[in-house]
Amino acid sequence: MTQQNSPSATTDAAAGTPPRPARLAAAADLHFGRSSQGTLDGFVEAVNASAADLLLLAGDLTDFGLAEEAEGLARTLFPAIRIPVVGVLGNHDYESDRADEVASILREAGMTLLDGEAVEVAGIGIAGTPGFPGGFGRGSLGVWGEPLVKAFARGSVAEALKLESALARLRTRAKVALLHYAPLAATVEGEPREIYPWLGSSRLEEPLTRFEVAVAFHGHAHCGSPEGRTAGGAVVYNVSLPLLRREGAWLRLIELER
Ligand SMILES: [Fe+2]
Ligand SMILES: [Fe+2]
Repeated sequence: MTQQNSPSATTDAAAGTPPRPARLAAAADLHFGRSSQGTLDGFVEAVNASAADLLLLAGDLTDFGLAEEAEGLARTLFPAIRIPVVGVLGNHDYESDRADEVASILREAGMTLLDGEAVEVAGIGIAGTPGFPGGFGRGSLGVWGEPLVKAFARGSVAEALKLESALARLRTRAKVALLHYAPLAATVEGEPREIYPWLGSSRLEEPLTRFEVAVAFHGHAHCGSPEGRTAGGAVVYNVSLPLLRREGAWLRLIELER
């Protein structure tokens, strides 16, 4: 399949090209914790200096999924950041079984949080869902065997269906997928092989091809690789903050034609 709308990408460390019609900034794995006050000052400055039209946050926004962490993150991001913020939750945001509270705090602060939904911002369509583990390619866990194994494998099937139904609602020329877990193995390379199955699922890749997604963002694989490409040609960026910081950046910036 031909890439219909290829993003051009830089990190904020290399920014400076004139903005194209829509400019997206993305990051993940902020892991805002009880002692994180002040640690994201550089991040906020980078967002405000990016000239981006919107900010995408690909999960693990908090460290343990606590309400006080979400409140601290909300105070850090809003109103300091003056562009629309669209996000998904990550596994850390679920850790304390208070994900609903975390989500409502962030929504009330101004973030659009997607969980199998789609939104259009600045002429760009964004479909978002956290995704799920399960493995890649031939190593994907099948829905087979013990009830607990089947239940686990169905988690990635369910997330792939959520991604598909969100993408199906978009009518924009440029479609973006926002995930926490990786949809392909290329962007988790660098992590230990033994943990690949816990970093994402190939089941998330097929909807990207079918709906001609231009670019997908994910996090979670802190030690993965920055960029990959699906079989259908969509560019996939791992925007995990620890990975970005290795390049001296706070953000991945891309420009997309609307
Ligand atoms: Fe993380
Ligand atoms: Fe994660």
